Amino acid sequence: MPSITRPPGPKGHFLLGVLPEIREEDIKYATRVAREYGDIVFMRVVNIPTYLISHPRYIEEVLVTNYRNFIKAVYLRESRALFGDGLLTSDGDAWVRERRIGQRAFRHEHIDTYADTIVRFTERKLDQWEDGQTRDVHQEMMRLTLEIVARVLFGRELADELESAEHAISVYLDQFADRFGMYVVPEWIPTPANLRYRRAMRSLDGIIYDAIREGRRSNGDERSLLSAFLHAQRRYGIEMTDQQLRDEMATLFFTGHETTGLALTWTLFLLGENPAAEARLIDELDTALGDRPVTMADLRGLKYLDCVIKESLRLYPPAYGVVREALSDCEIGGYTVPKGSTVAMFQWVVHRDPRFFDNPDRFRPGRWEDGLFDRLPKFAYFPFGGGPRNCIGKDFAQFEIALVLATIMRRFRFRTVKGHRTWPLPSLTLRPEYGMRMELRSTVNSRQSTVNS
Ligand code: HEM
Repeated sequence: MPSITRPPGPKGHFLLGVLPEIREEDIKYATRVAREYGDIVFMRVVNIPTYLISHPRYIEEVLVTNYRNFIKAVYLRESRALFGDGLLTSDGDAWVRERRIGQRAFRHEHIDTYADTIVRFTERKLDQWEDGQTRDVHQEMMRLTLEIVARVLFGRELADELESAEHAISVYLDQFADRFGMYVVPEWIPTPANLRYRRAMRSLDGIIYDAIREGRRSNGDERSLLSAFLHAQRRYGIEMTDQQLRDEMATLFFTGHETTGLALTWTLFLLGENPAAEARLIDELDTALGDRPVTMADLRGLKYLDCVIKESLRLYPPAYGVVREALSDCEIGGYTVPKGSTVAMFQWVVHRDPRFFDNPDRFRPGRWEDGLFDRLPKFAYFPFGGGPRNCIGKDFAQFEIALVLATIMRRFRFRTVKGHRTWPLPSLTLRPEYGMRMELRSTVNSRQSTVNS
């Protein structure tokens, strides 16, 4: 018989619950609470009863064993202005249908044909960079991954539209962060912030609907994920409306660049702070590639590159938490989790747990070299989520990050600008709150001077 007692947890403010602490400490609050109270913690975030779950075994129960008892949580359901009923936010039959279509569209033979585009777009960006310049690497990586995802999704480059798309997504994320803080007036009240938000969403919709019209006109003949969706739905005899396609494209437009852009930003930051790891990576790339560009075929042999990316996704998982809502009472870790409660599982917390990772806060790519991945309990490391609702873009993301990173490190190294504050801000994703100002150093020059000396 399950116990009905509540797990331990912080008491919080009588009205706001633990919201003030979350606002104060951001993501680090979850780690502190998990270390203080244990693997299952109860807390109230304003009026939302929330269970913070930080043991791989319990996470597996929610995401795999008992996944049917959970739907996406209220925070995500409220993101419908951007995602509509796309894959990330939908539940039930609608999700099953879209996932089947999406999975077909993401089949390997479609996506790995984008490797050339990824390398070419990266080279084009690097051509604008110079030795000694200071750049906001976060902005640069977001723009690059946005350019790539636009090409992959719609089969063409969005030139002028990219700026408005970028702006719309930033406005959306600001709104999301405020909404999470519950400091926001309802969306229908025409405050300046809400009007800006509506304008931003309208302009993003305009860009996406134009691309859908173009894709339908060309009968999905160009190579793109949109046309793969159009073909896949035909195969299943399902007609997707423009609205459904819009929701799917908006979802992939966002998820397909925000997370990879962040993964690259945090990786460049970590390498900048760890010159020994950086030197080893550059050395591996030099030895394997000589002077030629990286290709898909090289990736399997670039073992240290893979370790660097794994370690970066461990320390700074761009999707830093997975959140669900219980459909009926269930038992987790001997406690009853009542229907309607929110269950939060933070990669940020579990990935830094000393029970699973030695010296967890240190960036040590080498820890992955001797088969750590296979030894870890399932869900001690889950940057792409897990179970039926795992990340549909996981393979694409992994090779995109690897190709971009390898291409960049062939030409540049990075150092954080002195005095620059680096702080991970949890919104829907984990963005660096103050950007990422870094100084660029050409590795081509240093390679030549080593050869000449
Ligand atoms: C480093 C890169 C990425 C990370 C860390 C990441 C992480 C995640 C995580 C943790 C989830 C599960 C969310 C949940 O269970 O609530 C997820 C779902 C999803 N991701 Fe990714 N993702 C990445 C890249 C991508 C890319 C490149 C795409 C598309 C091109 C994508 C599309 C999606 C979609 C559509 C879902 C929802 C899947 C579903 O519910 O069926 N992601 N991702």
